[in-house]
Amino acid sequence: MKFDQFYQGTLILSGSMSTGQDVAAAQMMGADLAYMGTRFINTQESRANPEYKQMIIDSAAADITYTPKVSGIWANFLKPSLEMAGLDPESGEKKKVDLGEELQAPEGGASAWKSIWSAGHGVGSISDAPSTAELVDRMVNEYHTAADQFAAQAELFKRSAS
Ligand SMILES: Cc1cc2nc3c(=O)[nH]c(=O)nc-3n(C[C@H](O)[C@H](O)[C@H](O)COP(=O)(O)O)c2cc1C
Repeated sequence: MKFDQFYQGTLILSGSMSTGQDVAAAQMMGADLAYMGTRFINTQESRANPEYKQMIIDSAAADITYTPKVSGIWANFLKPSLEMAGLDPESGEKKKVDLGEELQAPEGGASAWKSIWSAGHGVGSISDAPSTAELVDRMVNEYHTAADQFAAQAELFKRSAS
């Protein structure tokens, strides 16, 4: 069944997208919009902890673990932040820390969401924390470059098909 036979609404694609090329690819696949989460944690305007931003820069997809053990709700977390909080990232089992029902951090009383950090599998393609304006400008350029490349590829496909 073709997609538009059962859904006519706006289609938004998300997950692991970090560049303008990713947005162009999403559109090529039929998405109306692309949505990025993790990429914008690493901007100057983001109020995320600087250590959180650095961990995103230093991490790859293998450093992300999907677990319900932190809050009871399945979510992706940075393994190094689980380790810092005394949790075993492999089992997700609590080793020496009781986060408690209130999600209190092990030390200092900050909320666990502030000391145990979420991120998506696209962290491997994030290597900086620029201003939002700089990031968006970069993405616009990447988008146009990708669109030109896709158009050139489409020409090749048309020629080989005819
Ligand atoms: C600040 C922030 C809050 C989020 N909150 C939720 C949430 O409450 N529930 C959820 O399912 N996903 C949540 N997400 C994950 C987003 O749905 C996810 O980032 C999105 O699929 C885009 O993928 P990406 O982070 O790889 O770009 C959150 C992401 C961010 C950055």
